[in-house]
Amino acid sequence: MNAKSLVSITDYSKEKILRILDAAAEFEARPNRETLKGKVVATLFFEPSTRTRLSFETAINRLGGRVIGFSDAANTSTSKGETLHDTIMMVSNYADLIVMRHPLDGAARYASEVSSLPIINAGDGSNQHPTQTLLDLYSIYKTQGTLENLNIYMVGDLKYGRTVHSLLMAMSHFHPTFTFIAPSELEMPEQYKIFCWENGIEYREKRDLDELGEADILYMTRVQRERFQDLMEYERVKDVYCLKNSMLDGTKDTLRILHPLPRVGEIDMDVDANEKAYYFQQAKNGLYVRQAVISDALGMLED
Ligand code: CP
Repeated sequence: MNAKSLVSITDYSKEKILRILDAAAEFEARPNRETLKGKVVATLFFEPSTRTRLSFETAINRLGGRVIGFSDAANTSTSKGETLHDTIMMVSNYADLIVMRHPLDGAARYASEVSSLPIINAGDGSNQHPTQTLLDLYSIYKTQGTLENLNIYMVGDLKYGRTVHSLLMAMSHFHPTFTFIAPSELEMPEQYKIFCWENGIEYREKRDLDELGEADILYMTRVQRERFQDLMEYERVKDVYCLKNSMLDGTKDTLRILHPLPRVGEIDMDVDANEKAYYFQQAKNGLYVRQAVISDALGMLED
Protein backbone atom coordinates (compact mmCIF):
# COMPACT_ATOMS: atom_id res chain seq x y z
CA MET A 1 0.00 0.00 0.00
CA ASN A 2 1.27 3.47 -0.86
CA ALA A 3 2.09 5.23 2.44
CA LYS A 4 0.18 8.31 1.29
CA SER A 5 -3.13 6.44 0.95
CA LEU A 6 -6.12 7.30 3.14
CA VAL A 7 -8.25 4.17 3.36
CA SER A 8 -9.34 4.30 6.99
CA ILE A 9 -9.29 7.21 9.41
CA THR A 10 -6.96 5.03 11.52
CA ASP A 11 -4.33 5.51 8.78
CA TYR A 12 -3.88 9.03 10.21
CA SER A 13 -2.35 9.68 13.63
CA LYS A 14 -3.78 12.39 15.88
CA GLU A 15 -0.90 14.66 14.81
CA LYS A 16 -1.64 13.99 11.15
CA ILE A 17 -5.34 14.75 11.63
CA LEU A 18 -4.48 18.08 13.27
CA ARG A 19 -2.00 18.86 10.48
CA ILE A 20 -4.74 18.27 7.87
CA LEU A 21 -7.16 20.52 9.77
CA ASP A 22 -4.52 23.28 9.90
CA ALA A 23 -3.94 22.90 6.18
CA ALA A 24 -7.70 23.01 5.54
CA ALA A 25 -7.84 26.38 7.30
CA GLU A 26 -5.05 27.60 5.00
CA PHE A 27 -6.97 26.39 1.93
CA GLU A 28 -10.13 28.05 3.21
CA ALA A 29 -8.25 31.35 3.39
CA ARG A 30 -6.81 30.85 -0.12
CA PRO A 31 -8.50 28.05 -2.10
CA ASN A 32 -7.19 28.91 -5.58
CA ARG A 33 -3.62 27.77 -6.26
CA GLU A 34 -1.65 26.06 -9.03
CA THR A 35 0.06 23.41 -6.93
CA LEU A 36 -1.43 20.44 -8.83
CA LYS A 37 -0.45 21.72 -12.28
CA GLY A 38 0.52 18.68 -14.39
CA LYS A 39 -1.16 16.21 -12.02
CA VAL A 40 -4.06 13.96 -13.00
CA VAL A 41 -6.48 12.66 -10.38
CA ALA A 42 -8.93 9.83 -11.13
CA THR A 43 -12.31 9.92 -9.39
CA LEU A 44 -13.89 6.47 -9.60
CA PHE A 45 -17.42 6.50 -8.20
CA PHE A 46 -19.00 3.03 -8.31
CA GLU A 47 -21.80 4.39 -6.10
CA PRO A 48 -23.82 7.63 -6.34
CA SER A 49 -22.51 10.84 -4.79
CA THR A 50 -23.16 14.56 -4.97
CA ARG A 51 -21.01 16.25 -2.32
CA THR A 52 -18.03 13.95 -2.13
CA ARG A 53 -17.37 13.69 -5.85
CA LEU A 54 -18.08 17.31 -6.67
CA SER A 55 -16.06 18.66 -3.74
CA PHE A 56 -13.11 16.42 -4.67
CA GLU A 57 -13.32 17.55 -8.28
CA THR A 58 -13.67 21.20 -7.26
CA ALA A 59 -10.69 20.80 -4.95
CA ILE A 60 -8.58 19.40 -7.82
CA ASN A 61 -9.71 22.14 -10.21
CA ARG A 62 -9.02 24.92 -7.71
CA LEU A 63 -5.51 23.53 -7.24
CA GLY A 64 -4.84 23.53 -10.99
CA GLY A 65 -4.95 19.73 -11.50
CA ARG A 66 -6.96 17.70 -13.99
CA VAL A 67 -9.67 15.12 -13.35
CA ILE A 68 -10.51 11.88 -15.14
CA GLY A 69 -13.01 9.30 -13.99
CA PHE A 70 -16.63 8.29 -13.88
CA SER A 71 -19.71 8.82 -11.77
CA ASP A 72 -21.58 5.76 -12.99
CA ALA A 73 -19.78 2.44 -13.34
CA ALA A 74 -22.56 1.27 -15.71
CA ASN A 75 -20.81 3.34 -18.41
CA THR A 76 -17.48 1.58 -17.88
CA SER A 77 -16.15 -1.86 -18.72
CA THR A 78 -17.26 -2.97 -15.25
CA SER A 79 -20.61 -3.54 -16.98
CA LYS A 80 -18.81 -6.00 -19.34
CA GLY A 81 -17.43 -7.92 -16.38
CA GLU A 82 -14.08 -6.21 -15.80
CA THR A 83 -12.93 -6.79 -12.24
CA LEU A 84 -12.09 -4.08 -9.72
CA HIS A 85 -8.51 -5.38 -9.79
CA ASP A 86 -8.18 -4.77 -13.54
CA THR A 87 -9.94 -1.41 -13.42
CA ILE A 88 -7.53 -0.19 -10.74
CA MET A 89 -4.53 -1.55 -12.69
CA MET A 90 -5.67 0.34 -15.80
CA VAL A 91 -6.40 3.63 -14.07
CA SER A 92 -3.04 3.42 -12.30
CA ASN A 93 -1.46 3.74 -15.77
CA TYR A 94 -3.13 7.09 -16.36
CA ALA A 95 -3.38 9.03 -13.09
CA ASP A 96 -1.23 10.20 -10.17
CA LEU A 97 -3.87 9.60 -7.50
CA ILE A 98 -7.12 7.62 -7.24
CA VAL A 99 -10.19 8.73 -5.30
CA MET A 100 -12.65 5.84 -5.10
CA ARG A 101 -16.16 5.19 -3.75
CA HIS A 102 -17.43 1.62 -3.83
CA PRO A 103 -20.43 -0.23 -2.38
CA LEU A 104 -18.34 -3.06 -0.88
CA ASP A 105 -16.76 -2.81 2.57
CA GLY A 106 -13.00 -3.17 2.14
CA ALA A 107 -12.92 -2.24 -1.57
CA ALA A 108 -10.66 0.78 -0.94
CA ARG A 109 -8.22 -1.35 1.08
CA TYR A 110 -8.17 -3.86 -1.77
CA ALA A 111 -7.52 -1.10 -4.33
CA SER A 112 -4.65 0.20 -2.18
CA GLU A 113 -3.09 -3.27 -2.24
CA VAL A 114 -3.44 -3.54 -6.03
CA SER A 115 -2.15 -0.09 -6.96
CA SER A 116 1.17 1.63 -6.36
CA LEU A 117 -0.66 4.99 -6.43
CA PRO A 118 -2.10 6.60 -3.32
CA ILE A 119 -5.78 5.70 -2.88
CA ILE A 120 -8.25 7.98 -1.11
CA ASN A 121 -11.32 6.18 0.15
CA ALA A 122 -14.41 8.24 -0.69
CA GLY A 123 -16.65 5.72 1.10
CA ASP A 124 -16.67 1.91 1.05
CA GLY A 125 -20.00 0.24 1.85
CA SER A 126 -20.97 0.72 5.48
CA ASN A 127 -17.33 0.64 6.55
CA GLN A 128 -15.48 3.98 6.39
CA HIS A 129 -15.70 7.49 4.93
CA PRO A 130 -12.49 9.08 6.22
CA THR A 131 -12.57 12.36 4.29
CA GLN A 132 -16.11 12.96 5.54
CA THR A 133 -14.73 12.45 9.03
CA LEU A 134 -11.98 14.99 8.50
CA LEU A 135 -14.50 17.57 7.32
CA ASP A 136 -16.70 16.68 10.29
CA LEU A 137 -13.75 17.27 12.62
CA TYR A 138 -12.98 20.56 10.89
CA SER A 139 -16.63 21.59 11.28
CA ILE A 140 -16.67 20.59 14.94
CA TYR A 141 -13.44 22.50 15.61
CA LYS A 142 -14.69 25.60 13.78
CA THR A 143 -17.98 25.66 15.67
CA GLN A 144 -16.85 24.56 19.14
CA GLY A 145 -13.32 26.02 19.20
CA THR A 146 -12.01 22.64 20.39
CA LEU A 147 -12.26 18.92 19.68
CA GLU A 148 -11.73 17.98 23.34
CA ASN A 149 -14.30 16.72 25.88
CA LEU A 150 -17.41 17.18 23.74
CA ASN A 151 -20.81 15.52 24.06
CA ILE A 152 -21.50 14.04 20.66
CA TYR A 153 -25.01 12.70 19.98
CA MET A 154 -25.19 10.35 16.97
CA VAL A 155 -28.69 9.79 15.66
CA GLY A 156 -30.31 7.48 13.11
CA ASP A 157 -28.72 4.67 11.13
CA LEU A 158 -25.73 3.83 13.30
CA LYS A 159 -25.56 0.30 11.88
CA TYR A 160 -24.93 1.07 8.23
CA GLY A 161 -23.77 4.70 8.48
CA ARG A 162 -20.09 4.70 7.56
CA THR A 163 -19.71 8.35 8.56
CA VAL A 164 -20.53 7.65 12.20
CA HIS A 165 -18.14 4.70 12.28
CA SER A 166 -15.23 6.80 11.01
CA LEU A 167 -16.13 9.75 13.25
CA LEU A 168 -16.32 7.60 16.36
CA MET A 169 -12.81 6.27 15.73
CA ALA A 170 -11.36 9.72 15.00
CA MET A 171 -12.94 11.31 18.07
CA SER A 172 -11.23 8.69 20.26
CA HIS A 173 -8.18 11.00 20.27
CA PHE A 174 -10.19 13.79 21.91
CA HIS A 175 -11.99 12.34 24.99
CA PRO A 176 -15.60 12.50 23.74
CA THR A 177 -18.75 11.28 25.45
CA PHE A 178 -21.14 9.65 23.01
CA THR A 179 -24.90 9.26 23.07
CA PHE A 180 -26.09 6.79 20.44
CA ILE A 181 -29.75 7.28 19.49
CA ALA A 182 -31.07 4.55 17.20
CA PRO A 183 -33.84 1.95 17.00
CA SER A 184 -32.74 -1.56 17.97
CA GLU A 185 -32.50 -2.57 14.29
CA LEU A 186 -29.98 0.19 13.58
CA GLU A 187 -27.87 0.20 16.76
CA MET A 188 -24.19 1.01 16.74
CA PRO A 189 -22.49 -2.31 15.82
CA GLU A 190 -20.80 -4.25 18.60
CA GLN A 191 -17.31 -3.77 17.14
CA TYR A 192 -17.58 0.02 17.65
CA LYS A 193 -18.89 -0.35 21.19
CA ILE A 194 -15.93 -2.64 21.92
CA PHE A 195 -13.67 0.05 20.41
CA CYS A 196 -15.18 2.53 22.91
CA TRP A 197 -14.59 0.16 25.85
CA GLU A 198 -11.01 -0.49 24.76
CA ASN A 199 -10.32 3.23 24.43
CA GLY A 200 -11.99 4.29 27.68
CA ILE A 201 -14.73 6.23 25.86
CA GLU A 202 -18.01 6.74 27.71
CA TYR A 203 -21.17 6.06 25.74
CA ARG A 204 -24.85 5.47 26.38
CA GLU A 205 -27.61 4.26 24.11
CA LYS A 206 -31.13 5.67 23.76
CA ARG A 207 -34.12 5.01 21.54
CA ASP A 208 -35.80 8.42 21.65
CA LEU A 209 -34.66 11.67 20.08
CA ASP A 210 -35.26 13.82 23.16
CA GLU A 211 -33.38 15.31 26.15
CA LEU A 212 -30.84 17.08 23.95
CA GLY A 213 -29.83 19.67 26.57
CA GLU A 214 -26.29 18.34 27.12
CA ALA A 215 -25.37 17.93 23.46
CA ASP A 216 -22.55 19.94 21.87
CA ILE A 217 -22.92 18.23 18.50
CA LEU A 218 -26.08 16.56 17.21
CA TYR A 219 -24.93 14.35 14.34
CA MET A 220 -28.00 13.30 12.33
CA THR A 221 -27.85 10.53 9.73
CA ARG A 222 -30.08 9.15 7.00
CA VAL A 223 -31.42 5.59 7.13
CA GLN A 224 -29.39 3.93 4.36
CA ARG A 225 -31.96 2.24 2.14
CA GLU A 226 -29.30 0.91 -0.23
CA ARG A 227 -27.71 -1.23 2.52
CA PHE A 228 -30.87 -3.14 3.54
CA GLN A 229 -31.30 -6.75 2.38
CA ASP A 230 -34.97 -6.60 3.39
CA LEU A 231 -36.80 -3.50 2.12
CA MET A 232 -39.75 -4.25 4.46
CA GLU A 233 -37.37 -3.68 7.35
CA TYR A 234 -36.31 -0.38 5.76
CA GLU A 235 -39.96 0.68 5.52
CA ARG A 236 -40.42 -0.07 9.24
CA VAL A 237 -37.52 2.14 10.37
CA LYS A 238 -37.11 4.78 7.67
CA ASP A 239 -39.14 7.49 9.41
CA VAL A 240 -38.03 6.69 12.93
CA TYR A 241 -36.66 10.19 13.66
CA CYS A 242 -37.45 13.66 12.41
CA LEU A 243 -35.73 16.60 14.08
CA LYS A 244 -38.01 19.64 14.23
CA ASN A 245 -37.15 23.17 15.21
CA SER A 246 -39.28 23.01 18.37
CA MET A 247 -37.15 20.09 19.63
CA LEU A 248 -34.16 22.43 19.88
CA ASP A 249 -35.75 24.49 22.66
CA GLY A 250 -33.60 24.16 25.77
CA THR A 251 -30.48 23.06 23.90
CA LYS A 252 -27.12 24.80 24.36
CA ASP A 253 -26.58 28.04 22.43
CA THR A 254 -23.39 26.49 21.12
CA LEU A 255 -25.06 23.28 19.90
CA ARG A 256 -24.50 22.64 16.21
CA ILE A 257 -26.40 20.16 14.08
CA LEU A 258 -24.32 18.21 11.59
CA HIS A 259 -25.44 15.80 8.90
CA PRO A 260 -23.23 14.26 6.19
CA LEU A 261 -26.22 14.66 3.78
CA PRO A 262 -28.20 13.83 1.78
CA ARG A 263 -31.15 14.11 4.14
CA VAL A 264 -34.36 12.36 3.27
CA GLY A 265 -36.69 13.43 6.07
CA GLU A 266 -34.75 13.14 9.32
CA ILE A 267 -34.30 16.95 9.60
CA ASP A 268 -37.39 19.05 9.00
CA MET A 269 -36.81 22.03 6.73
CA ASP A 270 -37.97 24.29 9.57
CA VAL A 271 -34.60 23.59 11.24
CA ASP A 272 -32.62 25.10 8.34
CA ALA A 273 -33.11 28.71 9.47
CA ASN A 274 -32.01 27.92 13.03
CA GLU A 275 -28.46 29.18 13.65
CA LYS A 276 -27.69 25.77 15.18
CA ALA A 277 -28.13 24.14 11.75
CA TYR A 278 -24.63 23.75 10.30
CA TYR A 279 -24.98 20.99 7.67
CA PHE A 280 -24.70 23.13 4.57
CA GLN A 281 -21.58 24.93 5.87
CA GLN A 282 -20.28 21.49 6.87
CA ALA A 283 -20.54 20.33 3.25
CA LYS A 284 -18.70 23.48 2.12
CA ASN A 285 -15.88 22.68 4.55
CA GLY A 286 -15.41 19.45 2.60
CA LEU A 287 -13.79 21.39 -0.22
CA TYR A 288 -10.96 22.74 1.94
CA VAL A 289 -10.39 19.50 3.81
CA ARG A 290 -10.21 17.57 0.53
CA GLN A 291 -7.72 20.10 -0.85
CA ALA A 292 -5.58 19.28 2.18
CA VAL A 293 -5.98 15.50 1.84
CA ILE A 294 -5.18 15.53 -1.91
CA SER A 295 -2.14 17.75 -1.34
CA ASP A 296 -0.90 15.38 1.34
CA ALA A 297 -1.49 12.30 -0.84
CA LEU A 298 0.60 13.88 -3.62
CA GLY A 299 3.41 14.78 -1.22
CA MET A 300 2.73 18.51 -1.28
CA LEU A 301 2.11 19.06 2.41
CA GLU A 302 5.00 19.24 4.84
CA ASP A 303 4.76 16.62 7.60
N1 CP B 1 -21.74 13.02 2.56
C1 CP B 1 -21.68 12.34 1.39
O1 CP B 1 -20.93 11.38 1.27
O2 CP B 1 -22.52 12.82 0.42
P1 CP B 1 -22.58 12.24 -1.06
O3 CP B 1 -23.09 10.82 -0.96
O4 CP B 1 -23.50 13.14 -1.80
O5 CP B 1 -21.19 12.24 -1.60
